Amino acid sequence: MRVLGIETSCDETGVAVYDTDRGLLAHALYSQIALHAEYGGVVPELASRDHVRKLLPLARQTLAEAGLAVADLDGVAYTAGPGLVGALMVGAAAGRALAWALDVPAIGVHHMEGHLLAPLLEDPGLKPPFVALLVSGGHTQLVEVAAIGDYRLLGETLDDAAGEAFDKTAKLMGLPYPGGPELARLAESGRPGLFKFSRPMTDRPGLDFSFSGLKTQVLLAWQASDKTPETRAHIARGFEDAVVETLAIKCDRALQQTGARTLVVAGGVGANTRLRERLHMLAAKRGARVCFPRPAFCTDNGAMIAFAGALRLLAGQHADATVTVAPRWDMASLPAV
Ligand code: KG4
Ligand code: ZN
Repeated sequence: MRVLGIETSCDETGVAVYDTDRGLLAHALYSQIALHAEYGGVVPELASRDHVRKLLPLARQTLAEAGLAVADLDGVAYTAGPGLVGALMVGAAAGRALAWALDVPAIGVHHMEGHLLAPLLEDPGLKPPFVALLVSGGHTQLVEVAAIGDYRLLGETLDDAAGEAFDKTAKLMGLPYPGGPELARLAESGRPGLFKFSRPMTDRPGLDFSFSGLKTQVLLAWQASDKTPETRAHIARGFEDAVVETLAIKCDRALQQTGARTLVVAGGVGANTRLRERLHMLAAKRGARVCFPRPAFCTDNGAMIAFAGALRLLAGQHADATVTVAPRWDMASLPAV
């Protein structure tokens, strides 16, 4: 089954074709970073309009790279939520209409399930049960995955998501949007231990997170500092170490609590080099396994949507003929596959 995947939940237009027999055939991504940079964050209306401009050319390009005609598609998957409602509507309307015209089934995919399943895309041997750490710009969650579609939330952030904390912290130190990857790059040249920030909520039991206080700690340190580029790098390193260590402590607890032997990490912050290293260390110590998608599939992309959609379409699930999106959507409410 050849499935076209469409991702338009935020500021990235992603398209891919996944073949359930042959794997990923092609994928393409268009990032709106330059469009939103001058506003310091995503402007929803501009995002929607740019998806309208870019989606169809990107879909044509992806099909051409896969060597397919549009009539070769057996199904269409699009991100139906969570995300920006206008942006979601663009992908959902195009995907639903295309499927209707081709008379093939369509399915609305949960964006975070797309992230969660991304590591399986490149490692067919990877199967539940496992614990997933989902760390994106909008979510920070630990999820117990008993089977595909069977998700139990173990813990989540009470305020900012990990990626959001990276972005806001970068912004307050004057780094351009999107700050997360830039802050991580800067941290590479910072010295560890010069600035020590707390590991929020690790001093009490439980698997929830809170990252908003960390941002305030950084603000105070930055304001009291000499504001040189070197100091900024040292602070960035201190911040990154605090986030990474906090995530690692909670992952360790989640593995212990569930008895799982595999940790799966996904979402934009999963591209962070230091987080990857730290979780590899943790897994080695526990005799467990940790799996990440390649960095390009940690951040938003069409491949994960094509893959997650294909699994559900293959199981006979599909959406009805209406264009429906869900800006807020609880992953635990998804049906099992
Ligand atoms: O999954 P994603 O592409 O979009 C959402 O679904 O939110 O995640 C984007 C988030 C942003 O907050 C970005 O700053 C963060 O992931 N991010 C990183 C890195 N690359 C992306 N954070 C830390 N280190 C990175 N290397
Ligand atoms: Zn995402």
